[in-house]
Amino acid sequence: MTDVISDDELLARADAVASRAYAPYSNFHVGCAVLARDGRVVEGVNVENAAYPLGVCAERTALARAVAEGYGPGDFVAVAITASPCGGCRQWLHEMEVERVVFRNGGRVVTMTTDELLPESFDFSNLA
Ligand code: THU
Repeated sequence: MTDVISDDELLARADAVASRAYAPYSNFHVGCAVLARDGRVVEGVNVENAAYPLGVCAERTALARAVAEGYGPGDFVAVAITASPCGGCRQWLHEMEVERVVFRNGGRVVTMTTDELLPESFDFSNLA
């Protein structure tokens, strides 16, 4: 089945939602848009805190929101992000078995699989 919206459109959703980021400390606004297999788009932004390490990345707010809506690993076709995903978010994207990740990096738009973003990753199979 053809995806309901294109990767360009998904990235445009991430760009648009980034303005809602709560990032008073870094002033670095990040937006994320997650496309589920049923066509639903769930958005997230980074949410910072005066206790700096407690801040949450846009990818994690979007994925956590999607999980709260009933989605889980294998339900995600694509994730678009306005920035290159950090190491921790790569682990989250891998856990959720996202098919492809589209992100802006230094003026380019990059598309990668989660295996490419995080090779030889630690996952549930390592816990066996
Ligand atoms: N940030 C994200 O939201 N996602 C990433 O993958 C990279 C970093 C946020 C965290 C922090 O609020 C700000 O960008 C600066 O690091």
